Amino acid sequence: MTALENDPLEINFRTRKWVRPEDLNANGTLFGGSLLKWIDEEATIYAIVQLGNRRVVTKFMSEINFLSSAVQGDVIEMGLQATAFGSSSMTMRAAVRNMITRKPILTVDRIVFVGLDASGVPFPHGFTDITYDRDRIPQEPLA
Ligand SMILES: CC(C)(COP(=O)(O)OP(=O)(O)OC[C@H]1O[C@@H](n2cnc3c(N)ncnc32)[C@H](O)[C@@H]1OP(=O)(O)O)[C@@H](O)C(=O)NCCC(=O)NCCS
Repeated sequence: MTALENDPLEINFRTRKWVRPEDLNANGTLFGGSLLKWIDEEATIYAIVQLGNRRVVTKFMSEINFLSSAVQGDVIEMGLQATAFGSSSMTMRAAVRNMITRKPILTVDRIVFVGLDASGVPFPHGFTDITYDRDRIPQEPLA
């Protein structure tokens, strides 16, 4: 496992979501399940870009700490950063913040994705560092 040196301030907040009525809980604030779905989808796309493999699966998520929330009409932004590359896996951390209140909403220290081959077996990706480009995006169709 190659651990990367990460500056906590370096995380890139790329994706924004608008909190809609269907994203609320009974308390009238952002439903955690909606937020986790958005994070998992965002993390999947990030893993595809980093590992050059569309057959990536979520293997592990560490403790999730909800620090504050959002209400209908708020805009939140999500950021991910790779923290380590293994043989078939990669680890990333996630942060979400509220663009309106400027408060952090949650952090996840470790999300692990594993790249699989066509048989569903962990597949060595050969990467040890982050790409900030689109150079690894797979072009071939899924079999
Ligand atoms: C992903 C899966 C194929 C891995 O199988 P496995 O038998 O654990 O495979 P391995 O033991 O070879 O581990 C594969 C990688 O995962 C890592 N890993 C396994 N368990 C882990 C855990 N609990 N935490 C963090 N990493 C873990 C291993 O370290 C290894 O990484 P490396 O190749 O970079 O060294 C299997 O667990 C699986 O199919 N899980 C379900 C995935 C899923 O459905 N996710 C939700 C929907 S996307």
